[in-house]
Amino acid sequence: NIPIITIDGPVASGKGSVSAGVAKVLGFNVLDSGSLYRLTAYAALQQQKPLEDEEQIKQTAVNLKAVFKGGKILLEGEDVTDAIRQEEVGLAASKVAVHPKVRKALFKLQREYAQAPGLVADGRDMGSVVFPEATLKIFLTASAEARAKRRYNQLKEKGIHSNIADLVKDLKERDERDLKRSVAPLVPAPGAKILDSSDLTLEETINQVLEWYRG
Ligand code: CDP
Repeated sequence: NIPIITIDGPVASGKGSVSAGVAKVLGFNVLDSGSLYRLTAYAALQQQKPLEDEEQIKQTAVNLKAVFKGGKILLEGEDVTDAIRQEEVGLAASKVAVHPKVRKALFKLQREYAQAPGLVADGRDMGSVVFPEATLKIFLTASAEARAKRRYNQLKEKGIHSNIADLVKDLKERDERDLKRSVAPLVPAPGAKILDSSDLTLEETINQVLEWYRG
């Protein structure tokens, strides 16, 4: 049995950084499932497909030609590592993520990441749908303000300008869409431990996850 830690939670709750930190300590693989939704959305936007057309977007997801290599993400050879982090792509990702057929197409791809010596998977439905057998399930949250600030700093590091008010609006819109969709809505998986990181540093958050994992 491959040990799996799932970290689900709302927009910019710190899932990516916490997952990377935990995986580094344990020597585990990482699945950033949000990047698959972002890649699907990015490809669909480029192909000028209507995001609400489930069949067309499903085709995009099925034919996704993405390569993850040395921290870079290539889509059909193009380096899209930073491009898919833009907020408009995040917003588009949450629109393609409502389609059950798109989620199904990405399901198989995600399951393939369960490889020895272990996996840390982050997203919205890692513990509830994709890896229900996970060893440890975390639901990571933080206040909207803390999350908007984090996202602001993240984007700034990438040279992308934004403002806090717009980010708060955007993350609330996405959270609401993720919460209200009919399949895999954003709610804690059964048995998930709730971790509120509003007042924790990244290191403290990582340590809490490790403490739970090591039991
Ligand atoms: O990093 P951030 O929280 O902004 O988002 P992300 O994890 O990159 O995910 C982008 C969007 O993909 C989310 O707003 C969700 O709508 C969707 N998503 C999903 O539905 N299921 C997942 N397992 C991961 C992401």
